[in-house]
This record gives sequence, structure tokens and C-alpha cells, in this order.
Amino acid sequence: MKILVTGGAGFIGSHYVRTLLQDQYAGWEGAHVTVVDKLTYAGNRESLPANDPRLTFVQGDILDGDLLRQLLPGHDAVVHFAAESHVDRSLESAAEFVRTNVLGTQSLLEAVLASGVERVVHVSTDEVYGSIDEGSWTETWPLAPNSPYAASKAASDLVARSYWRTHGIDLSITRCSNNYGPYQHPEKLIPLFVTNLLAGLTVPLYGEGANVREWLHVDDHCRAIDLVLNKGQAGEVYNVGGGNERTNRAITERLLELTGRDWTSVRRVPDRKAHDLRYSLDETKIAEQLGYAPSVSFEQGLADTVDWYRKNTDWWQHSKAIAADRA
Ligand code: NAD
Ligand code: DAU
Repeated sequence: MKILVTGGAGFIGSHYVRTLLQDQYAGWEGAHVTVVDKLTYAGNRESLPANDPRLTFVQGDILDGDLLRQLLPGHDAVVHFAAESHVDRSLESAAEFVRTNVLGTQSLLEAVLASGVERVVHVSTDEVYGSIDEGSWTETWPLAPNSPYAASKAASDLVARSYWRTHGIDLSITRCSNNYGPYQHPEKLIPLFVTNLLAGLTVPLYGEGANVREWLHVDDHCRAIDLVLNKGQAGEVYNVGGGNERTNRAITERLLELTGRDWTSVRRVPDRKAHDLRYSLDETKIAEQLGYAPSVSFEQGLADTVDWYRKNTDWWQHSKAIAADRA
């Protein structure tokens, strides 16, 4: 078996690849993995096992159709993580988001078509639905993305759907809530706050800290992707949520406790533009149709994540230096 993973040097993609190489996904034991990753500021080769004989790492852009057409033949499946993923960056400069997330997805699917790969999972996000004050989104909810990042992901979902409908590619889409866990770039809320607090720095809480996100451990997300890869239906979308809704204030409070700091370490900064108030997914479909249930408790998962950053300063120091303008 052979699987090609785009964006496999990023946070979620690398977790998926490491877990696959540890033979933790039934049916994929012994599989070979090809990672195609451009190694943007967000990609880190050190998130992947350097010498695993079952891993082939290719530094490349998903916009490079020639490269993909050369690599794809012989693979049984593609899991597509590669994206520009940070909302704040998309507010400052959106072109790369459209380029990678929309055109990159189209370029990848064109190469899939040419090479006859049989199965594709397109990894997307709950942000395509916009913001919801109460209740939870089902998969049939209208798309109403608010940031250029979310809009580019919504567009990529539609491109992906069209390649299923038009060309019959066996493709499913996942839409997940906020992930946390080890190896996440220290520009996102949890790793930014943890690494700042561990370094004795302050943390920038946007607005009143009242925005709500639904948190899911990256290991649960990747297990859901594996389920969708194996059992998901073509042309279908699957929400993947964690059920752990927390305000940013509540997250901050817990991170202060876990790092032994207090509210004097928190800076109030102007709010994010068009800041989505709340995300909440209805995950009945994946639970009932594919038997998915998250398994990592939020309290334990968060404590373990803080512990991981405490023990792995080498991994995040470099990225932190690059992201210094955002700290
Ligand atoms: P990330 O930013 O950590 O990693 C993205 C990876 O893609 C990086 O390794 C980067 O080098 C690579 N990449 C970027 N542009 C590329 C290009 N043109 N060609 C090849 N590689 C390229 O992102 P992440 O948090 O791991 O997210 C992975 C996917 O999951 C994304 O599609 C994102 O939209 C989605 N998602 C993320 C979350 C979350 O909470 N992080 C939640 C739901 C969905
Ligand atoms: O919901 C899924 C999405 O979750 C993914 O599609 C995105 O790729 C991922 O980045 C994440 O988007 P968010 O914008 O929700 O994540 P972020 O970590 O950037 O912010 C989480 C919340 O914390 C949000 O309400 C903004 C707030 N925040 C964030 C940062 C970076 C702060 O208050 N201060 C900060 O410095």
C-alpha cells in the first residue's frame, strides 16, 4: 500500500504521517508514505521521522502539476492537508491563500485524475460555515466564510466536490474544528500562549476573549480522517468536532494554571477583524455512519500538550523566532 500526503510537514499532516508509520491505522500497516510539502514557514522537516525507510519526503509545491503527475502513479490514496492555515496572516495578505488552497487543490486533483489514484480525502475546516451564535452546523449548512482563509477553504471544498461530481473521483471532504496537540506552529492560540508563558513573556488576548472555539486533539482528528479514508462515501462531507467548546478566556485561564502564571501575563490587544464569535459542529453524521467518537479528554490532552512544549523547546525555538512579529 502507498499513500501520498500533501502538507505532511505541517501540524496535522505530520501527526497523521507519524501515526501511520507507527502502524496505528488498521489496513495501512506497512504502508509507504510519500509526503509532498513546500516547507513554507509552517512546514518543519523535524516533525517527521528522518530515517524511516517507509517515508519518502519530497519538497515541492502542489501547484507543480508536472511534479505531481510524476509522483502520483502507484499510490492507492491521497490525503490532502497542504494549505495556508493561519487566519491572521490571511487578513494581512490573502493571495497565497487563494493560490495554495484553491489553485493548489485544483492542481492536485487534476494530477489525481491523470494518474488514476483511487481515493482522496480533502481535509477542510469548520470555518467554511462562518460563525454560529447558538446550535451547531450540520454538513448541509450553507457556506458563509468570513476570513480570506475560510473563503479559500470553502472554495477548495467546492473545487473538490466538482472533481467528484464531474470526473467521478472517489473523494470525501472532512470539516474539523480547532485542533491542539504537539508540533503545532507557535503562531496559533494554544502553542503561542504556551511558549510565551514558558518563556516568561506576555500573551496577546484578542478583544474580550469571549470568542468560542471547539477544541479537538489532533490524534482524534487524524483518526477521523483515517475512518473517512477507509469508510467514507464519495462526494460526502463529514464534520469532525470535539464537543469541547471553550471561550478564549477559559483557555487562557487554564494555560496560566498549567504554566504557573497569572493574569498579569495577559495583554489585551485589539480584536481580530471580523472575528468569528463561535464555532460548533454537529458530528452526528460521522458518529452514526462511520462509528467515530473522540477519545482524548480535553483536560488531559491540554496538560500533555503543555508538557510536550516544555520538553521540546528545540523544536519550537526556530519557528518562534520566525513568528516573533506575532508574539
Ligand atoms: P499547517 O500550517 O501547520 O501546515 C500546512 C503545511 O502545508 C505546511 O507543512 C506547509 O509547508 C504546507 N504547504 C503550504 N503550502 C503548500 C504548497 N503550496 N504546496 C505544498 N505544501 C504546502 O496547517 P495544519 O494546521 O496542519 O492544517 C492542515 C490542514 O487541516 C489544512 O488544510 C487546514 O485548513 C486544515 N484544518 C486545520 C485545523 C487546525 O486547527 N489547525 C482545523 C481544521 C482543519
Ligand atoms: O476551526 C478550525 C480552524 O482553527 C482551522 O481551520 C485554522 O487553520 C486554525 O488556525 C484555527 O483557526 P482559529 O482562527 O480559530 O485559530 P487561532 O489559534 O488563530 O485562534 C483561536 C482563537 O484565539 C481565535 O478566537 C482568535 C484567538 N487568538 C488567537 C491568537 C493567535 C487570540 O486571542 N490571540 C492570539 O494571539
